[in-house]
Amino acid sequence: MKASSSTINFGLIGAGAISWSAAEAIKKHANGKVLAISDPNAERAREVAGHIKIEKVYADAKELFANPDINAVYIATPNKFHAPLAKQALTAGKHVILEKPFAMNYPEAKQVTDLAAKKKLAFTVGMNQRFNADSQRVRQLVEKKFFGEIYHAKAYWRRRTGIPKLGTWFGNKELAGAGSLYDIGVHMLDLCLYVTGNFEPVSVSGQTYTKFGNRGLGEGGWGNSEKSNIKFDVDDFASAFIRFANGTTVTLDTSWACHQADANRDNVEIFGTEAGASVRPAKLYRYGKGEFSKYEVLDLDKTPVALAHQCRFHNFINHLLGKEKLVVTPTQALTVQKILDAIAKSSKTGKEVRLA
Ligand SMILES: NC(=O)c1ccc[n+]([C@@H]2O[C@H](COP(=O)([O-])OP(=O)(O)OC[C@H]3O[C@@H](n4cnc5c(N)ncnc54)[C@H](O)[C@@H]3O)[C@@H](O)[C@H]2O)c1
Repeated sequence: MKASSSTINFGLIGAGAISWSAAEAIKKHANGKVLAISDPNAERAREVAGHIKIEKVYADAKELFANPDINAVYIATPNKFHAPLAKQALTAGKHVILEKPFAMNYPEAKQVTDLAAKKKLAFTVGMNQRFNADSQRVRQLVEKKFFGEIYHAKAYWRRRTGIPKLGTWFGNKELAGAGSLYDIGVHMLDLCLYVTGNFEPVSVSGQTYTKFGNRGLGEGGWGNSEKSNIKFDVDDFASAFIRFANGTTVTLDTSWACHQADANRDNVEIFGTEAGASVRPAKLYRYGKGEFSKYEVLDLDKTPVALAHQCRFHNFINHLLGKEKLVVTPTQALTVQKILDAIAKSSKTGKEVRLA
């Protein structure tokens, strides 16, 4: 898996809104270079290339994959193309960091991880929320067994008016697979499993709703893609209840649009027998020590972080250089996809889905 050269030359697939920050993050690493970008929208690709100083611009990802100087690719396209492009990149011998959501479904995702294993190439899904200092701080306390038995966690990301621009691929099932669940719900689900260290789901019950986008309501600002008359037919609200092998339960709530007091609410809250915590911001809750001490609500802003770079690209590059383990493993990414599939199935059938 270790890269043969100390410079990791990246190719970016997709010149959308997120690729700007991705390119900047790669460039900040002393061993990271963005060599090429590909997007069927040539104008958009040239704009990113000009701004970030990327040498090569391709209209077709196949040409980028054929460039022998490229070691690794970052894929950030509409969700439908994630797994097919990841497979093409791996077949061409490139290491892959893929945007979330992993894929349109679990079988498609499994093909990708199987291929990466077969080709002995690095593969990760870039779950950036795991790298935030607050996420790392709470994760470290879980590792140090601060919480006793963690019996429940609540993961949520609810926006009041936050549908990425209406009329773009984001709202279309054929291109996006799902709506708020695949866009922001997946972040908090992944973060919750990561922070609690629990990747053994056994059953899922869930429901998705389409209540705002289909009425032309709830539009936010995200996205560079063109508006078209594309149908909005994905969830703009979803709720799920997940049971794990060790008895822990998790609730997941997500919305792009709903009536609520705040414009945005996002957090992972964990409940243990000895202490509780929230991740955004990182805080610890527990009984004070001693007979007359008060209940403690502690800010964790001074506790150390494991990865000072706080960056998914730096983790990926360091991994390719043999210096760090991947924070997001293919197996963990598959588990998250399995839960997302189960939420969709449970919503459709009205029944709980058993995973084990
Ligand atoms: N990790 C995060 O926090 C985060 C944030 C935003 C978006 N994303 C993810 O990143 C991906 C892209 O999102 P975005 O906001 O940049 O979208 P966007 O609509 O702004 O851009 C998508 C780009 O992909 C291009 N594209 C389409 N098919 C392509 C192909 N076959 N090859 C190359 N390019 C192709 C489009 O022309 C467009 O320029 C999505 O999967 C989204 O879920 C992740």
